[in-house]
Amino acid sequence: MKKILFVVLSLFAFVLSACGTPAAATPEAIPAEFAGKTNTLGADSATAGAEIYKTYCLACHGEKGAGDGPAGVGLSPKPKDLPELAATVGDDYLFWRIAKGKPGTSMVGWQGTLDDEKIWQVVSFIRSLK
Ligand code: HEC
Repeated sequence: MKKILFVVLSLFAFVLSACGTPAAATPEAIPAEFAGKTNTLGADSATAGAEIYKTYCLACHGEKGAGDGPAGVGLSPKPKDLPELAATVGDDYLFWRIAKGKPGTSMVGWQGTLDDEKIWQVVSFIRSLK
C-alpha cells in the first residue's frame, strides 16, 4: 500500500515539475519588446474595444470574459477568465498576450488581424469588465 502511495506521489511530483510554475501564481515574464508598454487610450476606448471583443474574442472568452463562451467549452486549457487575470497583471502583459497569443493553447496571436490601437481598445474593454 505504501508503495502505491509512493508511486502516486512521485508521479504527481513529476507532473508538477513538468508543468513548471503554475500559470496563475506567477505570470510568465513579458518579453523586452512589450515590457513596460502602457495604454495611452482613455477608458472611453472600451466602447470600440467592446465591438472588437464581440467579433474576435467573445466566442471563446464569453460575454463577460469569464472564459465561458460557446466555442471555449471543449478547449484544454479553457479560455482564461479575463477580469480575474486583469486584476493580477499589467497592461503590457495583456497587450503582449493578445498580440502574440499563448503557445500550447488555442489562444492565437492577433497582431496580424488587429493593429496596436485596436489591441489597446480591447485591453481597455477587458479593464472595464467586472
Ligand atoms: C479559440 C478560442 C479563443 C479566442 C477566439 C480567443 N481566445 Fe484568448 N484564450 C483562449 C485560451 C484557450 C487561452 C489560454 C488560457 C490559459 O492559458 O489558461 C486564452 C488566453 C487569453 C489571455 C490570457 C493569456 C495568459 O497569459 O493566460 C488573454 C489576455 C486573452 N486570451 C485575450 C483574448 C482576446 C482579447 C481575444 C480576442 C482578440 C481572444 N483572447 C480570443 C482562447 C481564445
